[in-house]
Amino acid sequence: MFAFTPDPAQPKPAFYADLIEAARALVHDEPDPVANMANLSALIWQFLPRLNWAGFYRTVDGALVLGPFQGKPACIRIAAGQGVCGAALASGETQLVPDVHAFPGHIACDADSRSELVVPVWRDGQVIAVIDLDSPEPARFDADDARGIEALAAAIAASI
Ligand code: SME
Repeated sequence: MFAFTPDPAQPKPAFYADLIEAARALVHDEPDPVANMANLSALIWQFLPRLNWAGFYRTVDGALVLGPFQGKPACIRIAAGQGVCGAALASGETQLVPDVHAFPGHIACDADSRSELVVPVWRDGQVIAVIDLDSPEPARFDADDARGIEALAAAIAASI
């Protein structure tokens, strides 16, 4: 059993340090990428309040394909450069979007989404996946969230 006790009230750097410690414990010694992505999306969902979607898209043949997640059923395939996730894949850079309605080409998988954070997962010089977080709250994510999820991505890149 894994019993984690997230404290979203603490300062974000400490909060993300706790999340990453929990993530390392979850994937420790487990080689199966699907199992690890499934548990990691559940962990993000447990830790981060005010989300309506959290999960992975994997890079397959240069495009993104839906991976394990929490939330409503989502679009399955996203081309590089398409929407927020495709922009993260094409640029290799984190996409912090305070208002998804103002992002050209945003793909509305869940009509409740108002803000979004997408972080590329790098391994061996390639973006192998992205972590996608959606919130029903405008401007839910800030630079500390982006840095925290980037650190998480680096910590789990070898395990997915
Ligand atoms: N909104 C994303 C698509 C994925 S869903 O949010 C789960 C985008 O524009 O890439």
